[in-house]
Amino acid sequence: MAEFDRFLQELKAKNDIVDVIGSYVALDQKGGNHWACCPFHHERTPSFAVNRSEQFYHCFGCGESGDVIKFVREIESTDFMGAVRILAARVKMEVPDNNLDTEEALLKKKKRDAMLAILLDTARFYRSNLFSGDERADAHLQYIEDRKMLPSTVKQFGIGASLDYRELGEYLAGKGYMRQDILDSGVIIEDKNGRLIDAQAERLIFPIINNMDEVIGFGGRFLGKTDFAKYKNTKETMLFNKRNTLYNINLLKKLKREQPISNVIIVEGYMDTISLYQAGFKNVVASMGTSLTKDQARLIKRYTENVYISYDGDFAGQKADLRGLEILDGEHLKVLVVPMPDGLDPDDVAKQGKDAYQKCLDAAMPLVDYRLHAIERKYDLGRTEEKRAFVKEALKVVAATDSAAVKEDLLKKLRDKTGLTYHSLERDLENLPKDEKVEETPQETDRMIKEVASGSDKIAKAERFILAAKLFSSVYAKGYSLERLHFSSSVHARIAEYIMQREKAGERVRPAELFEVFDESCPEFNEILDLNYNDKLSGDVAAKFFADSIATIVSEGIEQEIALLQAELEQTDEQEKRKAILLRLQDALRRQKKRK
Ligand code: UTP
Ligand code: MN
Repeated sequence: MAEFDRFLQELKAKNDIVDVIGSYVALDQKGGNHWACCPFHHERTPSFAVNRSEQFYHCFGCGESGDVIKFVREIESTDFMGAVRILAARVKMEVPDNNLDTEEALLKKKKRDAMLAILLDTARFYRSNLFSGDERADAHLQYIEDRKMLPSTVKQFGIGASLDYRELGEYLAGKGYMRQDILDSGVIIEDKNGRLIDAQAERLIFPIINNMDEVIGFGGRFLGKTDFAKYKNTKETMLFNKRNTLYNINLLKKLKREQPISNVIIVEGYMDTISLYQAGFKNVVASMGTSLTKDQARLIKRYTENVYISYDGDFAGQKADLRGLEILDGEHLKVLVVPMPDGLDPDDVAKQGKDAYQKCLDAAMPLVDYRLHAIERKYDLGRTEEKRAFVKEALKVVAATDSAAVKEDLLKKLRDKTGLTYHSLERDLENLPKDEKVEETPQETDRMIKEVASGSDKIAKAERFILAAKLFSSVYAKGYSLERLHFSSSVHARIAEYIMQREKAGERVRPAELFEVFDESCPEFNEILDLNYNDKLSGDVAAKFFADSIATIVSEGIEQEIALLQAELEQTDEQEKRKAILLRLQDALRRQKKRK
């Protein structure tokens, strides 16, 4: 290691930062610095400074900064060792390749390179399928036409086609890639007989490319009409994790070099991205169906502080908006929510033309306003009853804001919408029962407990928590068998089934395996993953919560049993049957009583 450090020192000493950067952009010396127009964002007057004595660059426009290695990494879109190699070649130094790194890191790098090569070849394979003239690609081409993607767009996004189950595997094996590398790259799955199967069989392919211009995974759309698993993404691999990637980040990076980026639009889907891009809104990325993560927020922050959230107009979309927003707020991004016409997504609106979507953008609003807007849509303010209900719900939102100025502003808006006086609204706000006020940001665990204690989907939350704890092997969950529990959601039941199977076989539970069954965009699966991601599964509170969750579900199970038996009882006149039902009912009631 020490040897490698010495090598790096010498490498940097020989590659003066002013010379290196000067070979990419024209530098102009003024005072102690050399200046240029920033190669990392578009600008007309130079704010990119290179300092020879510090061997450091900094852009006062976009904030990019670093040493000579970082510069080469960024400008060449390569990784650390890639930059080192370029710089070493430049000054004719030999990169020490033995003691370069630990053996493990080297193996990892080798694995990574092999996977990247396979992914790139796969992308090319799919792309050439699309234009091969093979009649099996007709359906894909027709689909592209139906969705109004232009040839230039198809090219820009590297869209391709899988034509069957077997060809990709044969192609990759034929190119000499190692079986294990092929499987690890996620593009191929193995069937029961050990045959290689295209994970995206017969789908339309959207390559997912990172900000280093590397293909790291694929989204594949089923061509028929369906809402069940219409997209399938590459499983989680060493390279691909939906939670730290944004679809189209590669073209956003390119765009930043060409023109100023004053804001970024975040959408949910592949098609939303493509349609907006095609309509001229090139500053768009997609979270690929998940609610935004911290990693994604940080990725965005390298481009701009101003973010438009443009999710579907349906309820799920609105819910996701709100979750994503809290994350973005936490990273100090300035966020506006773009309202969508009911039932439409950005793709639908963009298809109506650039202006139609621009109108939505112009109507974007801060989170609190958006919350009020969402509530307002549920009510007909022309009716007294509904107006009252609206005010009641809206005031809860107002109560949740900290800022007096924002409160005042919102009350004025409510006044204008309802025709009520400011004074009466203010009084109602003050008289709002305490527990009805929405808590702004209580401690996570507190909130979690409150949510479960009160929320209407108490059961779902309890189920989720139990599954997450089992899935991620929390110590307190270890000895508990799911056998006795009945899960009300079918997704939950399937996950439970998986866990039980593994346990029976005495094998380790591997959450990653579930990515093949459920996509992360499956909201229920996603919410379970979030529990682990947000670090809610450890500690005493979590252990207690686990026990509470089990109690909740068991009680709920008994209640359902009772309701069922009562219904049966009402429908039977036969004495014998009634007796049997009554016995079971008594037993259930006894169990219920014991739990209280
Ligand atoms: P949507 O359900 O909004 O799909 O999911 P969409 O983009 O409008 O799809 P089209 O217009 O019917 O083709 C948004 C995103 O969530 C992810 C995908 O990234 C999708 O683009 N998703 C959705 C999945 O990964 N799997 C699914 O089954 C559904
Ligand atoms: Mn859509």
